[in-house]
Amino acid sequence: MSGSTAEKKKSRPIASSSNETQVGGVTVIDHPLIQVHLTRMRNKTTQPSLFRASVKRLATLMVYEATKDLDGYETTVETPLTETTGVELSQRVGLVPILRAGLGMIDPVLDLLPMAEVWHLGLYRDEETAQPVRYYDKLPPQNPVDVAIILDPMLATGGSAMAALMTLREWGVKQAKVVSLIASQEGVDAVSSQFPEAQIFVAQVDPTLNDRKFIVPGLGDAGDRIFNTV
Ligand code: PRP
Repeated sequence: MSGSTAEKKKSRPIASSSNETQVGGVTVIDHPLIQVHLTRMRNKTTQPSLFRASVKRLATLMVYEATKDLDGYETTVETPLTETTGVELSQRVGLVPILRAGLGMIDPVLDLLPMAEVWHLGLYRDEETAQPVRYYDKLPPQNPVDVAIILDPMLATGGSAMAALMTLREWGVKQAKVVSLIASQEGVDAVSSQFPEAQIFVAQVDPTLNDRKFIVPGLGDAGDRIFNTV
């Protein structure tokens, strides 16, 4: 006989059979591991070290799914035994972390895409107006990447994601993806209506924003929790 609390609780499947739900241009990636790490991030007692670790694990799981349409070409390699065919990516991929919170996602994504370029964008949300304010952008005027992946744990009003997408459009990027861990319904609706060509990947869409434009139930401010500046 076991006395563990976990064993006493009823076990059930926690992800739908398909691990993706398409709603407009938004893909919600549903997987038990994603939900478990997201639950840790939501918990207000989670300390910064575990919060950061959860951001990284979620970023890995999300970007694995978000990159499944990347193009490649066939190549040959010599194994220790013989020659065989393999694959190399054929597109220039740019990772675009939104400062600050997007920095928490960059290392695990670079582990998956070590050949990617990293182009930082600095945007913060004005506390009074909730409008994004740009403070850092060193994108070159020409020679855009083929695929840009915006990394930001949170998509609340969608203002920051839309400002980033506009910047990438001006750079000439043809294929832009947004990878966020948690979003609001209002935010994903706004981004997908303004940028219908953008692919948006989230782990969870929460129903509302509060009067300060925070996602509810949400997880607080990801940047503050990553960098321990709450
Ligand atoms: C948060 C978050 C997004 C933005 C989302 O950043 O990381 O960048 O707000 O809100 P929006 O969808 O309404 O634009 P914040 O401005 O708190 O800056 P930080 O990353 O420096 O904490």
